[in-house]
Amino acid sequence: MSFLIKNGTIVTSVDEFKGDVLIKDGKILAIGEKLCNNADEVIDAKGMYVMPGGVDQHVHFSFEFNGEKVRGFETSNAAAVGGTTTVIEFVNQIEGKGLIDSIDDYRKENADGIAMVDYSFHGVITDPSTGVFDEIEKLPEAGYPTVKLFMAYKGMFFHADDDTIAKSMEKAKDFGVTIMVHAENADLIDLLQKNCIEKGNIEPYYHAVSRPPIVEVEATERAISIAKLMDAPLYVVHVSTKGAVDAIKRARAEGLPIYGETCTHYLTLNKENLAKPDFEGAKYVCSPALREQDDIDYLWTSIKNNWLNAISSDHCGFDWEKQKHMGKNDFRNIPNGAPGMENRLGVLWTTGVETGRISRKQLVDLFATTPAKINGIGHRKGHIGVGYDADIIIYNPNHKSKISAKNSLQGVDYNSYEGFEQIGRPEKVFLRGNLIVEEGKYIGEKGQGKFIPGKPYGLCYDGVKR
Ligand code: URP
Ligand code: ZN
Ligand code: ZN
Repeated sequence: MSFLIKNGTIVTSVDEFKGDVLIKDGKILAIGEKLCNNADEVIDAKGMYVMPGGVDQHVHFSFEFNGEKVRGFETSNAAAVGGTTTVIEFVNQIEGKGLIDSIDDYRKENADGIAMVDYSFHGVITDPSTGVFDEIEKLPEAGYPTVKLFMAYKGMFFHADDDTIAKSMEKAKDFGVTIMVHAENADLIDLLQKNCIEKGNIEPYYHAVSRPPIVEVEATERAISIAKLMDAPLYVVHVSTKGAVDAIKRARAEGLPIYGETCTHYLTLNKENLAKPDFEGAKYVCSPALREQDDIDYLWTSIKNNWLNAISSDHCGFDWEKQKHMGKNDFRNIPNGAPGMENRLGVLWTTGVETGRISRKQLVDLFATTPAKINGIGHRKGHIGVGYDADIIIYNPNHKSKISAKNSLQGVDYNSYEGFEQIGRPEKVFLRGNLIVEEGKYIGEKGQGKFIPGKPYGLCYDGVKR
């Protein structure tokens, strides 16, 4: 089966031109001007942008907070309608079990046969007692070449101390495994949270008060220091402050392989959302916390200048009514995290491309190309090139819509961008050549997504001597 996408404007991270894309058996066979037409089907993309399907390297389909669990892969069609064709999920090591077994078992039960977009995994080290550091060398062979460590969340089973971070990095660097950190100082947050509660400050807004920028900056600098000591690359997830960006920027200027991402919500939502009345603020409780305008502006400058390298959703499908209300009398019990995998492209196109803050090529780079490279899947995902998987979005820049939880596939009772006027939408989305979104609606099938094993030595190892 072959088909030709004709007359569109093809946008990659490095190029933008009018042309056609020929697809055969799920792969991109040819790209060019006026390709001759002997395809089985022709799709006219006149007036549309033809872009690679997004890679969202930071989604949570199994995250648990205070016993409350997010929605899983059964909601991954929401990623598809939002133009994301590959998601990368964080899987916790089960206590007493190896990391690979933990991910393998999770994958068989929760992703295979369920996912509606392609998927990969990051491991989360939670139990150093299993000899997990020695297991790191085997991760690439299993297709899981990335590991996240949570410096935040004191007292929770997934919290990692500096010893765990250093040992992980020491091992990881010899096998091309990329260590990622959630950089916030857990002890200081704990102290500040207790101070708030003692004063009777229990509302969602105090989530942000107890997680000021400095706790992120300190942990980012510390993680970079550990990486420097261990002579290892590092990737900092969900960067939200100027100080953390500057730490990453300084490190790279020194020639260190230190990279980072931010998320859609840190670019578009601010701290004042947490002050919304009637517990609405709980919808915006995520960690790090939402910031003020100066940080937001600096993040835009950072993605424009490549100081930060990717934009993820950090998607967490918690309900507001049932789950966020766990923290009605104490903000510390509000499950951390907000939904967003469906809205990453539309929100970034509207606030970034339409305003001229970033170019379409930069958006493609941050949304698809670089995330694929960071996670060792850049040889087949995140780019429109010959031989790549035919994961393609046909984006209609003239469509206008209002974001609402009512029309969302994320499976939760609220949307962080409720009422946001979105410009454009993915009109059609192809997953390995299969049409899974038509006129903005999901038309694919459960289980159509496939596991994509990552290769070691992702982008953070570029230029690192081996
Ligand atoms: O608040 C957040 N981000 N929840 C998800 C877990 C994490 O820290 O990434
Ligand atoms: Zn995190
Ligand atoms: Zn996260």
